[in-house]
Amino acid sequence: MQTINDVEIKGAIKRFGSNTVLDGINLEVKKGELLTLLGPSGCGKSTTLNLIAGFLDADEGDVYIKGNKVTNVPPYKRDLGMVFQTYSLFPHMTVYENLDFGLKLRKVAKSDKQKKISRALELVKMAGLENRYPRELSGGQRQRVAIARALVVEPELLLLDEPLSNLDAKLRHELRAEIKRLQKEIGVTTIFVTHDQEEALSMSDRVVVMNAGRIEQISSPTAIYNHPETEFVFQFIGKSNSFDGKVASIDGRKISVKVGDDITHVDVGNIMGTDKDCKPGDEVKLYIRPEKMKIATAPDSSQSSLDFHKATITQINYLGTTWEVDVLLHGKPLQILTPAFDATRQTGNEVYVGWSPANMMLLKK
Ligand SMILES: Nc1ncnc2c1ncn2[C@@H]1O[C@H](COP(=O)(O)OP(=O)(O)OP(=O)(O)O)[C@@H](O)[C@H]1O
Ligand SMILES: [Mg+2]
Repeated sequence: MQTINDVEIKGAIKRFGSNTVLDGINLEVKKGELLTLLGPSGCGKSTTLNLIAGFLDADEGDVYIKGNKVTNVPPYKRDLGMVFQTYSLFPHMTVYENLDFGLKLRKVAKSDKQKKISRALELVKMAGLENRYPRELSGGQRQRVAIARALVVEPELLLLDEPLSNLDAKLRHELRAEIKRLQKEIGVTTIFVTHDQEEALSMSDRVVVMNAGRIEQISSPTAIYNHPETEFVFQFIGKSNSFDGKVASIDGRKISVKVGDDITHVDVGNIMGTDKDCKPGDEVKLYIRPEKMKIATAPDSSQSSLDFHKATITQINYLGTTWEVDVLLHGKPLQILTPAFDATRQTGNEVYVGWSPANMMLLKK
C-alpha cells in the first residue's frame, strides 16, 4: 500500500516580479516527523512555508496536504497551526484571549475551550499566566505562548518559522529541547524553519538544505553533516577545509589523489555530486572537516589506515574544550580542531597532519 505523505510539494515555482525565489521545489513530509528547512537568509524558507500554509500561491506546481491538492483552500481550512517569523502575539489581548482567538474561528464549544487552553499552556509550561498581556511577558515566555496558540487548535500540521529568533543563546537551547519533546509527545507533523545549522541538526528527523530557491539535499542530520552531497551543503553545515587534487588511480574501494607532491586517499563512497564517475586524470576538489584531522610529530605507523602529510603551523588558538590549529599544507591553509594538543608546539613548527580516507570527501570539478 502506498503511504500518503502529510505534505507534498510538487515542482513549485514562485516568482516575485522577475525574481524567481522558488525554483522547482519537490518535498515530501511524512506523518509525525519534524522536518527542518535550513538555509541562508533569502533562500526561500518562509516562502515555502507560506505556500504550505496557503498565504501564497505557487506560479507553477502544486501543494498537497494528506493527498489532497489544496490550491484553492484558504489557510484557515488547512488545519494547521503556525508560528510566524516576524510577529507573534496580538498585543492587545491577554494570553488567554490570544489562545482563544483560533478556537473562536473554529467555533469550538465554550465548555471545551477552557480545557483546551489550559492543556496547551501546560504543555509549554505557561499555566497560570492566562491574564497577562504580551508586554508583561519575557521574550521566551512570548515565544512559548505563540507556540501554545499554534497548538491549541490541535492542528494536523505545525509550521514554525524561526520561532526561536530574538532569544538569547541559553533560552534558545532550552526552548529547542522543549519543542522537540513536545513535538514527539503529541506527534504532530512539524515543519520548522531556521538558518541555524546546530538548531537544525539537533532537532530534526530530517533536514532540508535550501540555497537560492532550490533544495540542495534532504537527509538525516548525521548524513547532512557526514555525507553532504554538494559543496554548498558541506560549507554551510559546520566548518570545512578544501583543497585541489588530481585523481592518480582507483583501486576498488579507494581513490588515490595527487595533492602537491603527495598522494592521499578517498573512499569511493565519498564522491559528492551527481557525477560519480571518477577517472585517473580528473581534476577534483577534496573536503574535510577540521575535527576529522589529527596532528602528530611523525607519521603514526600504528595507524596505517590514516594518510599523513607534512604541514607547518601558522596559528594556535586555545578555545577551552578544543584547540584550533591553523596549518599550511602544500601551500594551502587548513584548520584543525583537536581536543588534545601538545602545548609546547609553536607557530612555525613542522607537524604531520593525518586523516582517514573515510572522512575525506571528493567532488569532480
Ligand atoms: N512579498 C514579497 N515580494 C517580493 N519579494 C519577496 C516577497 N517575499 C519574499 N521575497 C523575496 O523572496 C526571497 C525569499 O524570501 P524568504 O522570506 O522566503 O526567505 P527566507 O529563506 O525565509 O529568509 P530569512 O532567513 O531571512 O527569513 C528573498 O529574496 C525575498 O526578498
Ligand atoms: Mg524567513
